[in-house]
Amino acid sequence: MTTETTTAWTKPHILSLETFAAPEYETLLETADSFREVLSRRTKKVPALQGQVVANLFFEPSTRTRSSFELAAKRLSADTLNFSGSSSSLAKGETIFDTAKTYMAMGANIMVIRHRQAGVPHTIAAEMDRLQTDVRILNAGDGQHEHPSQALLDLFTLYQWLSSSSPHQFLAGKKVALVGDILHSRVARSNLYSLTAMGATVHLAAPPTLLPKAFQGLLPESYQDQLICHWEIEPALAEADFIMTLRLQKERMSDHLLPSLREYHQRFGITRDRARLAKDHVKILHPGPVNRGVEISSDLMDDPECSLISQQVASGVAVRMALLYLIGTSS
Ligand code: NCD
Repeated sequence: MTTETTTAWTKPHILSLETFAAPEYETLLETADSFREVLSRRTKKVPALQGQVVANLFFEPSTRTRSSFELAAKRLSADTLNFSGSSSSLAKGETIFDTAKTYMAMGANIMVIRHRQAGVPHTIAAEMDRLQTDVRILNAGDGQHEHPSQALLDLFTLYQWLSSSSPHQFLAGKKVALVGDILHSRVARSNLYSLTAMGATVHLAAPPTLLPKAFQGLLPESYQDQLICHWEIEPALAEADFIMTLRLQKERMSDHLLPSLREYHQRFGITRDRARLAKDHVKILHPGPVNRGVEISSDLMDDPECSLISQQVASGVAVRMALLYLIGTSS
């Protein structure tokens, strides 16, 4: 692979896409593309991060994000350390700062952090900077705030699917429907920034309890025309190029925001009939884990003609290699 990137990478930490600019998305997509090529080789490994230590600090459950970061780090020849909240010294009362400092003392160069509380990766990054360490922090999902690597792998999946010749504004003229539990979704927030920055118009759809009006104002003024909220599904799906479904986050729904999952499926679930409202060859994405038969019907989810879900998982490794590589090798 070429390790030349179009723009020198200047972000030491990756905490949020709110501050990402177009050249950064473009560099990321191009870098991920070269790692995708590495992953198609017989020997799927490069020495880019040899000698570096990547610590996965997951204070909240995860299957695909944690495994995907671990595999990405290994494919870059880094050494990996895995931590999970429930089986660690946290259970003995240690603070997250002390946990992070313990990994720092072991020589961790990059910490990939997931926490149920929004802002934890930012706070640890600020502490690492204050201590003048070179430790880089990557947000792997903080509360209901952001999940940058998920949105970037979604973006890369669309980029691959469209086989665009250049990443520049490659989603211009495309309509993306983002449907589901938007209120609780860090994936939705990060995707709003990335999709609109690359030119797409995003149509959000959910019951009013899961899509507060305030979402309309989430983006800076120059992007507001590219964001439209709907409280019914049909106008969001009409002529859509892509449908992104989001999991109903039962663990975060303490306030009984929905009458029942069945009713949600009847009104907002993506079924074959509903998918017909969209463009002919519409593609459907879901970050996983999926509640089968709730946000999407089981047959549609398993139909390779419609679903890009497996491609998203595969893209995850290339995109996370790109993220680790960019922050691990920039000065
Ligand atoms: C998402 C997450 O954890 O925010 N999943 C993921 O990272 N693959 C979405 C979700 O949990 O619904």
